[in-house]
Amino acid sequence: MLKVNENYLELQGSYLFSTIAKKVNAFTAENPDKKIIRLGIGDVTRPLTPTIIKALHDAVDEMAHEETFRGYAPDLGYEFLRSAIAENDYVKRGCDIRADEIFVSDGAKSDSGNIQEIFSTESRIAVCDPVYPVYVDSNVMSGRAGKYNKDSANYKKVIYMPCTEANNFAPEFPEETPDIIYLCFPNNPTGSAITKERLQEWVDYANRNKAVIIYDAAYEAYISKKDVPHSIYECEGARTCAIELRSFSKNAGFTGLRLGFTVIPKDIVIDGTTLHSLWARRHGTKYNGAPYIVQRAGEAVYSEEGKKEIRGLVDYYMRNASYIYNGLKNAGYSVSGGVNAPYIWLKTPDNMTSWDFFDHLLNDVNVVGTPGSGFGPSGEGYFRLTAFGSYENTVEAIDRITRA
Ligand code: MLT
Repeated sequence: MLKVNENYLELQGSYLFSTIAKKVNAFTAENPDKKIIRLGIGDVTRPLTPTIIKALHDAVDEMAHEETFRGYAPDLGYEFLRSAIAENDYVKRGCDIRADEIFVSDGAKSDSGNIQEIFSTESRIAVCDPVYPVYVDSNVMSGRAGKYNKDSANYKKVIYMPCTEANNFAPEFPEETPDIIYLCFPNNPTGSAITKERLQEWVDYANRNKAVIIYDAAYEAYISKKDVPHSIYECEGARTCAIELRSFSKNAGFTGLRLGFTVIPKDIVIDGTTLHSLWARRHGTKYNGAPYIVQRAGEAVYSEEGKKEIRGLVDYYMRNASYIYNGLKNAGYSVSGGVNAPYIWLKTPDNMTSWDFFDHLLNDVNVVGTPGSGFGPSGEGYFRLTAFGSYENTVEAIDRITRA
């Protein structure tokens, strides 16, 4: 008898940002005259920079001529992009990562959702709590998360590592030993960062316990402090236990263009099988590659002009982050993040629940943020604002919130 994948029935509601979009759309339909400011989903608002636009145009022109036209991209991505990534993101930072260990993709969201496929469904996953929902939901879909418990608002088989004010929003080693550990630093949603010393402890822990770390470094361009590592491969021993996910979305504004990559060192071997070979097999089977023109745009990010322009984008958003952080702090809010990340994490006032505070901001000051509880049980009582709006809207939103 035909059956659906029952694991999907364990998913709770719709995807967090879809739920928020529905609520905002309903509000807008009822209040068409209100000017809503959206600081919810971490979507960029600055246009692509001139160097990237030129690379796109040039690549489009190449597609118009028989001699330069390109069809399917190579399975793992074009060599020109993988070499630029290896050189600029890794070799220049002293990390031993080679171009043939990089898999180009359409972004870190799909990779972070799909990567679990190469592990057994028996594997135990550990996630930070609060957490980017894709890590948990994709494991729910594959049956690795177990049943949902409504009272504790968590999944039975998932190991949650609370990230709270008490531990400075950085996870402790869990009591149960996981097989797969998801870490995201700089962190989405809390905006916290991890020191190199602490990350090294995690790498040692993973190697000791024969676990794999899936390290999401999508926000590395926002790091401003010297003791914060840009890649997990800055740590000794990471080649045998860590997969790294990266994105062009947040540094170069590719949320609409779509480009990212996953690094799997060939030294991660489990029961005689390299994870690299499994991901290569999966990539070859299920994916036909990011478009040529987009990969050329990605290459332009690493040109000298491209790097300068990208720095300008990051600085622009970080000015917003400071405005949000300082504005809320001066108004008496308890805030963190915003220094090495484009997210500000604040405690809701007067013990309001995260969703009550969401409704209050939407209805009373027409500002959209993200309720902390949407990222996991330890996010209850917190709220996330993104620095990815325009400067003018950011200033107006914070003025509205602090006057309310
Ligand atoms: C977020 O708001 O958490 C992110 O923008 C979502 C994403 O990158 O997929």
